[in-house]
Amino acid sequence: AKRPAGVPEVPPRQISKVGIVGAGLMASQLAMVFAQHLQVPVVMTDIDETRVAKGLDFISSQVEKLQGKGKISAEQAAGLRGLVTGSTDKSVYADADFVIEAVFEEIGVKKQVFAELEEIVPAGTILATNTSSLSVTEMAADLRHPERVIGFHFFNPVAVMPLIEIARTPETTDEPIATAFALAAALRKTPVLTSDSAAFVVNRVLLRLMAEVQKAFDEGTDAATADQALRPIGLPMTPFTLLAMVGIPVAQHVTESLHAAFGERFHVSANLQRLIEAGVTEIWSTDEDGRAF
Ligand code: CAA
Repeated sequence: AKRPAGVPEVPPRQISKVGIVGAGLMASQLAMVFAQHLQVPVVMTDIDETRVAKGLDFISSQVEKLQGKGKISAEQAAGLRGLVTGSTDKSVYADADFVIEAVFEEIGVKKQVFAELEEIVPAGTILATNTSSLSVTEMAADLRHPERVIGFHFFNPVAVMPLIEIARTPETTDEPIATAFALAAALRKTPVLTSDSAAFVVNRVLLRLMAEVQKAFDEGTDAATADQALRPIGLPMTPFTLLAMVGIPVAQHVTESLHAAFGERFHVSANLQRLIEAGVTEIWSTDEDGRAF
């Protein structure tokens, strides 16, 4: 196979244990793919027991589905369940070789996570962020070892979306990048190396499309009509269906970050804001016949 652009000529680091910071929507999906494809222990942490338990329940249900489809044996299912553990204590990362954070998309929160991790993990541990819209460089700026920090961005749903965007900052050294490429291959994903610019490559395009549709929504087009109009152009998922999957508050938050970085190119929808303030977290979507539900 053709070697992807930007792979450094240094050996990747051997990964024998993976840490996931967070146990939410993306974090739990990450834990699942790392355990499944690397077959190494994966530890997830979150701020309380309830969140951790929810993440572990997700793993259990995914394992059950794989077994139900006959993709893994009962023995492999038991093995997978045993590989993923959860905790509220970040000291479980003390012997991890690769730790990726997938916590709330807020620069202060992410910086705090990295600062805490730096006190726990050994010198060679790679620190990655699954951010989709924030500056990796800024996230690493106050660390003693910013050279081991990379962006490693997955798409939702993690199990099926093939791409990983690997972001290199001006400080990142070769080994973390070589390791990221090796990991992506082990996870059976397609890696691309991007510069550390807001939203890397894919979300600059995807979120721009989403923002335009939301602008039409603000201007009076109803969501179901917009979805129906966009169905035949070949999108795998219509915009409001995608919005429902990502979650309105999360999507709005990402658009706000892009608005901050790129201005009016990314319209922040007043309509969505009203829905969020009204506590609506699911938006109607459309069925095959274009009916809203
Ligand atoms: N989790 C796990 N597996 C899933 C899944 C999920 N959420 N959704 C679908 N699958 C699996 C199905 O189980 C099925 O597996 P099998 O073949 O083993 O049965 C397989 O994927 C195909 O499922 P479908 O037949 O339902 O496939 P589809 O043709 O409807 O495709 C899709 C599903 C791949 C999700 C497709 O709808 C799609 O590509 N949607 C767009 C997703 C997208 O744009 N994601 C980016 C979101 S934005 C983001 O992530 C970024 C951000 O940074 C803010």
